[in-house]
Amino acid sequence: MKKLPIGLQTLEDLRKRNGIYVDKTEHIYKMVTEAGKFFFLSRPRRFGKSLLISTFKELFKGSKQLFEGLYIYMTNGSGLKNIPLFI
Ligand SMILES: Nc1ncnc2c1ncn2[C@@H]1O[C@H](COP(=O)(O)OP(=O)(O)OP(=O)(O)O)[C@@H](O)[C@H]1O
Ligand SMILES: [Mg+2]
Repeated sequence: MKKLPIGLQTLEDLRKRNGIYVDKTEHIYKMVTEAGKFFFLSRPRRFGKSLLISTFKELFKGSKQLFEGLYIYMTNGSGLKNIPLFI
């Protein structure tokens, strides 16, 4: 059974520990490929900012195995590899 990912702020931890992940990768893919160039992420505490940034990091690193079964895995998500991300 999958667990709630309480306190897990990186996609790697969440996926390796079999945590529930609400798949946001469709929106992430659209942010990168269709939306603007700059984003200001202003969200309240515990709204998933760190996990989102970690998801970008893994995407741009090309960590394909972490995305198995998610929306972006079925798209050309791996083509996003090597876009630099500064955090
Ligand atoms: N898409 C998601 N699916 C499942 N759980 C999620 C998702 N996004 C965030 N969470 C969970 O919600 C909690 C808060 O996420 P995170 O630490 O990324 O938020 P934050 O906005 O960076 O918080 P803080 O303001 O405290 O730094 C964590 O337990 C994380 O695993
Ligand atoms: Mg955070």
